[in-house]
Amino acid sequence: MKTMIILGAGQFGQACANLINAADTKLLAFGDNNLSLQGTCLGETPILSIENAVNLKPDYALIAVSDQTRSSQLRDQAEKAGFQGIFWLLGQLCRRFDIRLATLRRMADRLIQQGIAGDIAELGVYQGELACQLNALFPDRRLHLFDTFEGFDARDIQEESARGFSRAREGDFADTSLSFVQSRLPFPDQALFHKGFFPDTTAGLENCRFALVSLDADLYAPVLAGLEYFYPRLSPGGMILLHDYNNRRFRGASQAVEDYEKAHGPLPLVPLCDLHGTAVILGR
Ligand SMILES: C[S@@+](CC[C@H](N)C(=O)[O-])C[C@H]1O[C@@H](n2cnc3c(N)ncnc32)[C@H](O)[C@@H]1O
Repeated sequence: MKTMIILGAGQFGQACANLINAADTKLLAFGDNNLSLQGTCLGETPILSIENAVNLKPDYALIAVSDQTRSSQLRDQAEKAGFQGIFWLLGQLCRRFDIRLATLRRMADRLIQQGIAGDIAELGVYQGELACQLNALFPDRRLHLFDTFEGFDARDIQEESARGFSRAREGDFADTSLSFVQSRLPFPDQALFHKGFFPDTTAGLENCRFALVSLDADLYAPVLAGLEYFYPRLSPGGMILLHDYNNRRFRGASQAVEDYEKAHGPLPLVPLCDLHGTAVILGR
């Protein structure tokens, strides 16, 4: 049995811990520089200082942050503390392996093979990273793109803060524009941009049907509004890719699902084990 520590006890560290094959590898501890986390546990696993985690003499140290500078700092710190095992760098692994994108490709294959009718949509486009993939996977379908393109709206943030779902702030994700996203799309003629506050931007779109929707608005209010708008318009066999369902940083997404289910009954939802805590919801 090999032993491991995970340096970085945030969303990514926790997601990586879930992926460990416990029959082969034992997770000894998380290491984190956040003093308020040290001394607490994630599940059964303690969170220690980097130095104390290294002192456990694990075979592997997984550095579970995506930012390259922070990753290098943690690596230096572990080396200074005397770590002599093998480093795994999540940032590097993620550049080579992407569960969410791989899943999206398999979903697209299935939707096309089954002839599931409907448009493609994304709520929460930001700079268009995922929108480009959706557009490339479905070159023959209309792609509806909903975003303020000015970041989070004050109305959503007010509710988010009042209910303590996240530390998001008005204007986060404002460093983008509609024209920037348009210029990146491989098939821009298929894109219909709905710029502004969701759900106001759905006015006039009552008769749309969707085969695949990426719901990536992070916050409680737009995720709930997204479920209310998209789910009844999802074709049978269609799919919603709901981001942040298992994300401790953005707890609004799972609360939105809970509240939607209270009002409308249970959703056919499958959680994925990607780093972002995504879930897939199937159309009935
Ligand atoms: C995490 S980003 C989306 C990331 C994107 N899917 C990607 O591939 O990189 C969240 C986006 O949701 C948008 N958003 C959140 N609430 C919204 C609302 N009520 N109306 C419109 N856009 C909203 C924000 O402006 C932001 O661009």
